[in-house]
Amino acid sequence: MSDGKVLETRFNGLREAQPALPVEWYLDPGHHDREMREIWQRHWVYLCRADSLPAPGSFRSFTVAGRDIFAVRTEDGAIAAYFNACRHRGSTLCTEAQGNFARRLIVCPYHQWAYGLDGRLRATGPMRKLEGFDRADHGLVPVATAEWGGFVFANLAGRDAPPFMETHGAELDYIARWPLAELVTGHSYRKTLDCNWKIFWENYNECLHCPNIHPELCDLVPIYGRAIMARRDDPDWEASADDATPRVAGTLREGAETWSMDGAAQGILPGLTEEDRAAGQRYATILPSVFIAAHVDYVRAVRIAPLTAETMELSAEWLFHPATLAQPGFDLARITDFGTLVMEQDGAACELNQRGLRSATFGHGVLMQEEYEVFLFQEWIREALGQARLGEKAAPRASRRAARE
Ligand code: FES
Ligand SMILES: [Fe+2]
Repeated sequence: MSDGKVLETRFNGLREAQPALPVEWYLDPGHHDREMREIWQRHWVYLCRADSLPAPGSFRSFTVAGRDIFAVRTEDGAIAAYFNACRHRGSTLCTEAQGNFARRLIVCPYHQWAYGLDGRLRATGPMRKLEGFDRADHGLVPVATAEWGGFVFANLAGRDAPPFMETHGAELDYIARWPLAELVTGHSYRKTLDCNWKIFWENYNECLHCPNIHPELCDLVPIYGRAIMARRDDPDWEASADDATPRVAGTLREGAETWSMDGAAQGILPGLTEEDRAAGQRYATILPSVFIAAHVDYVRAVRIAPLTAETMELSAEWLFHPATLAQPGFDLARITDFGTLVMEQDGAACELNQRGLRSATFGHGVLMQEEYEVFLFQEWIREALGQARLGEKAAPRASRRAARE
């Protein structure tokens, strides 16, 4: 493919320094509300693993972009989601974080209107029949849902939501060989960070901080120790195009198989190619809410949820094949300690960044050569907010994925 040829010869980095997003976009509550409306209420947002809703009537509640919703397993085994507001006078319906609706009815705690799992209004409590009122007009307002690889996503735009795979299919293709739907959660992590949600994504999108912030990770993934993420991040990469050493190719250090405290894997997931196994890590980024890091023996999903302009919730789930968890001598901590260490290091750096922004007297920061992915993320933000993009000249790559291949 000619496209592939073009990408092969491309250097990833920015050609010119670029202005970063305005400082006030990380601080101003009014701007934050705008991002909630224009980004978070219009994009697909990761909610939870499908197996955390095991049976008809199982539910979990969430707050997405300031709105309460709940997801529920319906009678036919599908997953539906609704805004958590009763159609009578608007009371919260579901007051628990998770559970199972008794008798498969969603009953309002205020005046006992009752809805089926399909969202239809079934009963109006003690209220008498009234002219001009039709139950069929007062069902729960649906939130769009999509399920892929055992991950459940929601889109508050409901019927106006773009098809999930149209938006994210190409990115998910990158980890499609992993047996994701079969995996179960072996460990999870949750923390509130004192930073704007965009700060976390910007940090994710560069490795300039790696040598300083992540010494253990740089030991495992030697190219990160060069403050870059991929072979073509080096302007002189063509001179070492055939060099397969980890420092250049971006693979794990000699002898290491996965992201764990000692680099050793504990069982290899079925279905992976030789290339998948050699890569050490593959990422799928589903903006704005989750990235999925796939390794040979497990997968880690990292969820980002904004709380206020200056706070966010970071959570992570480590997913394993049931056979891996059942192995005699399986050492979960050897894996989860490593990811937790890296996330704690990133979280601390993000909070440092946010704290400094409060004292920033300049209008915006600046993006350097290696920050091409940060630039692309910020262009995505500008576009989602209906602002003019800075343009292609600074970062001529066709796709985010190309950089990590
Ligand atoms: S608000 Fe729910 S029944 Fe009245
Ligand atoms: Fe990092």
